[in-house]
Amino acid sequence: MKKNIKKWSERFSEPTSEIVKRYTASVNFDQRLAMYDIEGSLAHAEMLKKQKVISATDLKLIKKGLNQIKKEITAQKFKWSIDLEDVHLNIEKRLTQIVGKSGEKLHTGRSRNDQVATDMRLYLRDVVDQTINQIKVLQKATLTLAEKHIMTIMPGMTHMQVAQPVSFAHHLHAYYEMLERDKSRFQDARKRINILPLGSAALAGTSFPIDRKFVAKILKFDGLMENSIDAVSDRDFLIEFNANASLLMTHLSRWSEELIMWSSPFFEFIEISDSFCTGSSIMPQKKNPDVPELVRGKTGRVNGHLVSLLTLMKAQPLAYNKDNQEDKEPIFDVADTISDTLNIFAEMVSKLKIFPKNMEAAALKGYPTATDLADYLVKKGMTFRAAHGAVAKAVKFAINNQSDLSAVDLKDLQKFSKLIDKDIYNCLTLKGSINSRKHIGGTGFNAVKTALKQAKSKLSK
Ligand code: ARG
Repeated sequence: MKKNIKKWSERFSEPTSEIVKRYTASVNFDQRLAMYDIEGSLAHAEMLKKQKVISATDLKLIKKGLNQIKKEITAQKFKWSIDLEDVHLNIEKRLTQIVGKSGEKLHTGRSRNDQVATDMRLYLRDVVDQTINQIKVLQKATLTLAEKHIMTIMPGMTHMQVAQPVSFAHHLHAYYEMLERDKSRFQDARKRINILPLGSAALAGTSFPIDRKFVAKILKFDGLMENSIDAVSDRDFLIEFNANASLLMTHLSRWSEELIMWSSPFFEFIEISDSFCTGSSIMPQKKNPDVPELVRGKTGRVNGHLVSLLTLMKAQPLAYNKDNQEDKEPIFDVADTISDTLNIFAEMVSKLKIFPKNMEAAALKGYPTATDLADYLVKKGMTFRAAHGAVAKAVKFAINNQSDLSAVDLKDLQKFSKLIDKDIYNCLTLKGSINSRKHIGGTGFNAVKTALKQAKSKLSK
């Protein structure tokens, strides 16, 4: 038999060329949607039978065939063919091979356009649920580490310069909060993902007496897409997911950057466990923080996909266009990347070794309690601007004498303002400075303790 002589359909007089076939086929990547495709088809068939569009026998055979196909796919015995373009046509063809004419009826009142939109929504709903759970695991690891380090003092930085002392737990809690917002963005996006496009057919709906609510119920969608043209054509739900993933990765890349710096010999705040590092092929002494570096790098990849999807959607006329087939590889890659990243990050955080003494020593280096001295003067009646000037002079004096502010004699401090008394030393120490920031959101030890407690109870709900 001659190969490649197949025409797309009887409407065509020439067969599809080999290169066009390869160019247009999506089965090599969209076969990942197979189980969702079958789930959607089973619900569609169930509805067609209820509406008396197909018979009970047809439904029985379709179910039997699709269940067999599921098994074949799971056992990796299913033969995918690029001649059949995509996951939908591959499965439909096989169904007809298995059950005959009843299989040919499955596509009644449906198009691949509403079918693929449904598959992507079912797939993404699972991805989002998994992502939310994985974020929770990382949040838990973050809180567990933070709980051990409420009293660990580190230099809080602005402009990468020592600014004010903070509790290390407070710093970690900042990442917990970022993750909390990431999580809620995914939860919110889920509402817009979990609505049913099926029933829109190619773009205009169908003349068959379908029951979309029935299908939505079977597939656990929260509602129906209200416009068939919109339902088959927009991929905003994918773009929104990718944008949320980009923000998540952005947060993790910031944290990664800190882990990389903190583990360098210039900081020595932490040690990343060996299992997350690699060596150098030439420098035997090296231990490189590959995992956080790759998290930083993969953020670029996820952001790149966001730009791809936005560009893909831009200026597409209504309704479905084949451009949309290009949505799959980016989205699958984003989903895989954030899943692996969250997994590995949670484990890495739970295995971090912390060196509190080095953190505290670094905090002492940059006159981090100067603001506390200024605040003290303001409380004694000076204006803040005047206090700022007086403290700047005191800092200069301390720099010249190579001592921390808390080590400058009272008599010397009083040269900068008569308002200074011996109670000043309560706020010039790192602990005193931290302790005084008692309000909600501040780094005060007790405030942090309360914040961690609240976070933990929210997380366990
Ligand atoms: N493989 C296609 C996609 O991913 C399925 C929809 C095709 N529809 C069509 N009319 N060609 O978008």
